[in-house]
Amino acid sequence: FYVVNEVVSKRLGHIPIIKGDFHLLPAKVQRFVTEKVELMRPRGIYICDGSQNEADEITNKLIERGMLSPLKAYENNYICRTDPRDVARVESKTWMVTPDKYQTVTHTPEGVEPIMAHWLAPNDFSSELDSRFPGCMSGRIMYVIGFSMGPIGGPLSKIGVQLTDSNYVVLCMRIMTRMSPAIWDSLGDADFVRGIHSVGVPRPVREKVINHWPCNPDRVLIAHRPAEREIWSFGSGYGGNSLLGKKCFALRIASNIARDEGWMAEHMLIMGVTNPQGHERFIAAAFPSACGKTNLAMLEPTIPGWKVRVVGDDIAWMKFGADGQLYGINPENGFFGVAPGTSHKTNPMAMESFQKNSIFTNVAETVDGEYYWEGLEKEIKNPKVEMINWLGQKWHIGDAGKAAHPNSRFTAPAAQCPIIHPDWESPKGVPIDAIIFGGRRPEGVPLIFETFSWIHGIFVAACLKSETTAAAEFTGKSIMHDPFAMRPFMGYNFGQYLQHWMDLAKAPKGEAARKVPKIFHVNWFRTNKEGKFLWPGFGDNIRVIDWIIRRLDGDDSHALKTPIGYVPTEGSINMDGLDPVKWDELMSVPKEYWQEDVKEVRKFFEAQVGIDLPAEIRRELDEQEKRIAAM
Ligand code: GTP
Ligand code: MN
Ligand code: MN
Repeated sequence: FYVVNEVVSKRLGHIPIIKGDFHLLPAKVQRFVTEKVELMRPRGIYICDGSQNEADEITNKLIERGMLSPLKAYENNYICRTDPRDVARVESKTWMVTPDKYQTVTHTPEGVEPIMAHWLAPNDFSSELDSRFPGCMSGRIMYVIGFSMGPIGGPLSKIGVQLTDSNYVVLCMRIMTRMSPAIWDSLGDADFVRGIHSVGVPRPVREKVINHWPCNPDRVLIAHRPAEREIWSFGSGYGGNSLLGKKCFALRIASNIARDEGWMAEHMLIMGVTNPQGHERFIAAAFPSACGKTNLAMLEPTIPGWKVRVVGDDIAWMKFGADGQLYGINPENGFFGVAPGTSHKTNPMAMESFQKNSIFTNVAETVDGEYYWEGLEKEIKNPKVEMINWLGQKWHIGDAGKAAHPNSRFTAPAAQCPIIHPDWESPKGVPIDAIIFGGRRPEGVPLIFETFSWIHGIFVAACLKSETTAAAEFTGKSIMHDPFAMRPFMGYNFGQYLQHWMDLAKAPKGEAARKVPKIFHVNWFRTNKEGKFLWPGFGDNIRVIDWIIRRLDGDDSHALKTPIGYVPTEGSINMDGLDPVKWDELMSVPKEYWQEDVKEVRKFFEAQVGIDLPAEIRRELDEQEKRIAAM
């Protein structure tokens, strides 16, 4: 190491190490840091250790600067308002960089823009990089964050190193990932996922910084080089764009690693559900952003005897064991959850999770030092209290505009959740017996159906659709395709992704036959003619989970075969204590609707998957079309 260190020290020149010991970093990390220092030219290097002291030091600095302020009503909770132009993921500026275009995207017809993954040619990427990153950290400190996704050293876990000039990102990464000097020991000489992040505002700044939140919205770029396991993020401090362990690493890059290594990286929650007989099952569920994962993962059952415990609320890494069972881990260490709509009524366990040590972004703050957002109207102590809304203006309940941005978020340590599962950090993961897909479907789609087989389940997931939400830059409500709830996070050619899912059902020689999970589809969001939800949702969703678990346990008598899958027979969902529900409206499978749907799905496959669509999935579509025609 001596020689490398000498060279590296020389190349770092006069740039001071503000904190940490550079020479204790593994040699590959040293080289990575040195190269990027030469490129981005920060005024100092700060090697993070993830300690409480370090977090306190950074927090105090940010309070002084006005970027964070303490929420006095709680212990160690902080609020932050971003530049209002930097509030969500920017899908239109998110790219996968591969030498061959079709490694990233499917073969779409002339003039059709692929919606799953955007491809950037390596040459174009180089020029985008060259026009942004050189000198982009000048006058700022570069933080070096070593982190593990998954328990440190676990067989399913992976290590990453993120460089960033945002100390807000450091604080959030400390909550969302495992950040500790133990990372360096665990890593040794091995490779790691590289993350390079800059807010893109070198000093001296040329434009006024709004809300003490430096960002560069016109120049945003989030680029991934999957073969190099590398992420380049520029111009945004918003979590989905800047906490590189999350969507960039744990979904887009990890899905590439997963394909190569034979596992899955999915946009899924993992929950443990114990029935009144005391038997526990683990379920994974994929819903598009802002469609209910965090809520389902922490559900408080409204029927007696049931218990739900959360393993993860957003991302699942899953691998079949040699015993044929699928095991899943939550690679994250915290919750980055949608704030609006979260209340003691809808998600009490999330509320409990962020009473301390949490960061709130773009919510409102009352003069009493409490957080506030839409959905807390009935729970706030003083409904007349004066607040500062997310835009920094004085605001009261009833005033025009919104208190919180619809995509405002809480960042809370997962360990603080009262119902965090005791095995949530199990390195080998928990056994997954069912996978649920779902979305916001105001029309036509029943509350619950069970798919006919693994392959039919893959087909159903491939045609997953949902109403758009505020989680990305889309405005207005429309139904969009969101296959596997992965559209914004797809890391490679979607046809190959489908093939990968299909291949996973076959065990390699010498391993036990694979017990593939049953696949279900749910829709909490069907509405009546007046636009009101037909299903109460939230804690009452346990009633649907109950039916699912009985199906897993082999109960065959309560399912009705329809062209799209099995739906519950009337009376087979426990409705005790519930206001009357319009069963037919909630469960019907209208022929005209599904005839249209199958046509639309065919068009979607032709336009968006083309020749990359595996023949088996096309066959599922044909079969489904025939079943619907015969209704
Ligand atoms: P990301 O974290 O962005 O991936 O989203 P998510 O899937 O975790 O969504 P989340 O659980 O935060 O839910 C988002 C919104 O959906 C919130 O406003 C919730 O109030 C609402 N929601 C969640 N579950 C239900 C439900 O069962 N019924 C209804 N009507 N709304 C729900
Ligand atoms: Mn998500
Ligand atoms: Mn969530």
